[in-house]
Amino acid sequence: MFEFLRQPGFFGTHATMGADLSQLMATLFTGLFIIGWLQAKQHRGHHHHWLMLGGMVTMVGFFTAYYLFRQLGVLAFEGKEGFGGSQALYDYVFIPVLTIHIILVIIGLVMAVYMIVLGFRSQQFLSGARVLSVARLQTSWKKVSLIFAALLAVVMLLFGARVMSAGFSMRKLEVYIGFLTLVAIVFAVEMGIQRIWPDGGQRHRALGRFTMIVYCILFLTGTFTYAMLYILYPGKIG
Ligand code: HEM
Repeated sequence: MFEFLRQPGFFGTHATMGADLSQLMATLFTGLFIIGWLQAKQHRGHHHHWLMLGGMVTMVGFFTAYYLFRQLGVLAFEGKEGFGGSQALYDYVFIPVLTIHIILVIIGLVMAVYMIVLGFRSQQFLSGARVLSVARLQTSWKKVSLIFAALLAVVMLLFGARVMSAGFSMRKLEVYIGFLTLVAIVFAVEMGIQRIWPDGGQRHRALGRFTMIVYCILFLTGTFTYAMLYILYPGKIG
């Protein structure tokens, strides 16, 4: 499988099969989410719900599996040797765009999960139609702490099971602590956000638009990186 991903890609550029597959999937998912956005604007709640839910779950699954397989690799594969342009272009254009892209990937992954949960929490059914509710949707610190404590217990159990079967490693501990920290940050940010948009439906619309803008910039920065690496300035690898 690893060998397959390193073969020349199908777009006829200098890219590998893996990079072309990733670019193709990014294009498909971005197109799908824009359709989902239009469905929401046209108040087609059911269609929007199924498309966003199915699309986000498939996208997170695909990219998580793909990047884990490539050992979290844009930089691992296509580091400086992969880039054939000048040092200045690399330092002042390529790396800043790639850094923005990676930060947005993390925000995009968090928003995918967050928006799905918010979708379920803020929807209601009126005469069979799926619409956003106009009621206050607020969580207390007590409830958030309880959810976090339950998650902590599950993660500790999982970590314990992993240590028993495969042994302890500092790297593993960091990954688990990193995940819990991220969840804690999201919960804390949500407590602030729910003051700004107390109404669940309003919050879903505002953060949904934000998420869609993040996905569009993600697509643009990803395509830019692809074009620089495999079309404009191909390096030794590719
Ligand atoms: C996962 C990513 C999601 C994103 C990015 C997203 C984004 C949006 C946006 C931007 C709107 C407002 C459209 C506009 O007026 O401009 C909206 C409306 C809506 N969303 Fe989502 N959404 C997501 C998932 C979901 C899910 C999972 C559900 C249901 C469980 C859902 C239910 C709804 C409903 C019912 C509306 C109102 C449609 C109407 O105006 O009648 N959404 N969403």
